[in-house]
Amino acid sequence: MASLQYSCTVVAPNPGHRTPPSSKPFSAKPSYFLTHARRSHRFQVSCNGGASQKPTEDGQVDRRNMLLGLSGLYGAANLVSDPQAYAAPIEAPEFKSCGEARDVATGDLLDVNCCPPVSDKIIDYKLPPVTKMRIRPAAQRVTKEYLAKFEEAIRLMKKLDKDDPTDPRGFMQQANIHCAYCNGAHDQVGYKNLDIQVHNSWLFFPFHRWYLYFYERILGKLIDDPTFVLPFWNWDNPKGMQMPKIFDNTESPLYNANRNQDNRPPAIIDLGFSGASDDLQKVVNNLTVMYSEMIRSVNSTLDFMGQPYKAGSAPSPGMGSSERGSHVAAHVWVGNPKNKYREDMGNFYSAGRDTLFYCHHANVDRMWSIWRTLKTDVPKDITDSDYLNASFLFYDENKQLVRVKVADCLDHRRMGYDFERVDIPWLNYKPPRKAAKAKVKKIASGAQKPEDLFPLNLKKITRVLVPKSAKGKADEVLVLENIETDTTKFIKFDVFVNDEDDNAEELDKAEYAGTFAQVPHKTKDKKGKSTISLRLTELYDDIDVADDDTIVVTLIPRSGGDDVTIGGIKIIPSPPRSG
Ligand code: C2O
Repeated sequence: MASLQYSCTVVAPNPGHRTPPSSKPFSAKPSYFLTHARRSHRFQVSCNGGASQKPTEDGQVDRRNMLLGLSGLYGAANLVSDPQAYAAPIEAPEFKSCGEARDVATGDLLDVNCCPPVSDKIIDYKLPPVTKMRIRPAAQRVTKEYLAKFEEAIRLMKKLDKDDPTDPRGFMQQANIHCAYCNGAHDQVGYKNLDIQVHNSWLFFPFHRWYLYFYERILGKLIDDPTFVLPFWNWDNPKGMQMPKIFDNTESPLYNANRNQDNRPPAIIDLGFSGASDDLQKVVNNLTVMYSEMIRSVNSTLDFMGQPYKAGSAPSPGMGSSERGSHVAAHVWVGNPKNKYREDMGNFYSAGRDTLFYCHHANVDRMWSIWRTLKTDVPKDITDSDYLNASFLFYDENKQLVRVKVADCLDHRRMGYDFERVDIPWLNYKPPRKAAKAKVKKIASGAQKPEDLFPLNLKKITRVLVPKSAKGKADEVLVLENIETDTTKFIKFDVFVNDEDDNAEELDKAEYAGTFAQVPHKTKDKKGKSTISLRLTELYDDIDVADDDTIVVTLIPRSGGDDVTIGGIKIIPSPPRSG
C-alpha cells in the first residue's frame, strides 16, 4: 500500500459523543438512548491525491472513487466500464450508529425505535456441525405436540418483552430487526447518506434466511429444545393456500389481530392480485404465478435473486421475481387494510410483529431452496464476491452478537435444517397453449407505439406495440425500464402479451408474462427506480408468434397505477443467463 499515490487519514468522531464501552460481556442498552445521537458517530476519512478522491459534501470519500483512482495506477488496460466491479460488499451495520426509523409515507419518525441493543463484542459466526437434520414442517400438517411447543416458545418470547425489554431475543426486539434493516435505521458503513436495505436486491434471500435461522434457534433455546424448527406456510400448494389455521386461533400466542379480517380462513390467498372472486380461479392463478416467477419468466440468476447491491450503491436496485411476486402478495394479503400502513404484515417496519411473518418467510426460503434444484438453463448461484462477502449482524440464542456472511447460508442443509417434502404442483404448471395463432393485427387496434406512450404513467390498462428483436420464436426478454415509483405506495401491475380479452381475473393463460410489485418502504426521497426483465421464450411457444416482428404488450395496473411511471419498454435478445 505504501506505493499508493495518495494517503488517507481516518479521523475518529468526537469522543464526547461516543457510547462508552461496557465492561460487561453483554451490554444491552435501551435503544432509545441512542436515537438522537445518530449520525454523529461516523469516522471521517480524508484523502489527498487526485480529483477522484474528493470527499463528498459531508466530508466522506466515495469508496468507489477511491478504487477507481487505484485502477488508474495500473493503466487503462484494467479499466472496465462497470463501476460496480470496483465496489465492495455491503458490510454489517454498526449498531451504535443506529438511528431513527421513519414512517414510509411521511418520512416522519415512527412511534417505535427499532434499534437493537449495542454490544461491543462481535463474534464471526461459525455454523455448528450438523448432527441431525431438523425438518421444517408444512404449517397445515403440524402435529398437536409440535403446535404445543411452538406456542410455548412464542409465549416465552413475548414474555421476555415484559421481563427484560432489552433482551435481544424478546418478541419485539426480534420484530425490530426487520424494521431496523428495512426502514433506514442502519446506514451503510462509511456512507452515512445511504441506508442499508435488505429488500429489493440480491440480499433479500440471504438476509431473511439468517434472520429466521436465529429466530428459530432462539425459540428452541427458550423451550430448551435445540431441534425446534419453524413451520412453513405452504401457499404454493392448494392445501396451504389459506392462512394456516394454527395462526388463526384467537386464544393462541400465534394469533395477531392486526390482519385483514376478510382473509381469515377459509379465504384463499390471491398470489397474483387477480381479484378473482372464484376460489378455483384463485388457485389456478396462484399456480400460474408460481410457475411464472420460478421458471417461465426467469432469464438469469439475477432475475430470480434480485439485482446487485454493493457498498456505496443506492438501496433497492430491484427485486427478483419471487420477492416481487408471491412474497409481496402474501404480505399485502395478510396486512390489515384498515390500518394506515397496512400493519402488521403489509409494511416492513411492522411485519415482524406478526408470527405469521416467520412462517411466510420459511416458505420464501423454501422457494429459494427449490429454485436451486430446478433443471433450467439458468445458473443457480451468484458468484460475485461482493454478494458472497456481504454480512449482517444478529444476536444468537445466547444473546451473543454475531456477524454472518451470505456465503455461509447458500446451502440450508449446512445450517442444519431442511423442509418437509410436500407436492410441488406448479412445477409443470404451464398455461394451456393457444389453439390458434394470435391475431396481432386485431389486438393491435388501440395499441400505440412506445415512442408515443412512454414515459408512461400507468393510470389505466395500456396496450403497446413492441418490436421484437428477431422475427417469430426467438430467445428474447421484455424489458420494462426505469420504473419510477412512489415508494410509500403499494404498487403492482401485470404484463400480458398478445392478449385478446383483457380479462384481468384470469392469469392461467398463455399470454401472462409476469408482474411488477412493490411493498411500501422508506427511502430518503420517496422515489424508487427499477427495471425488470421478463423472459418470453416459452411464452412464444404457447401463443405461437410464427413470423411476427411485433407483439402487443398489455400492462394492467392492479394497485397504485397513478404512482408508477414506466420509462421505456423494449424487447432484446436474452442477455447472458448468469448475472
Ligand atoms: Cu423482509 Cu417479507 O420482508
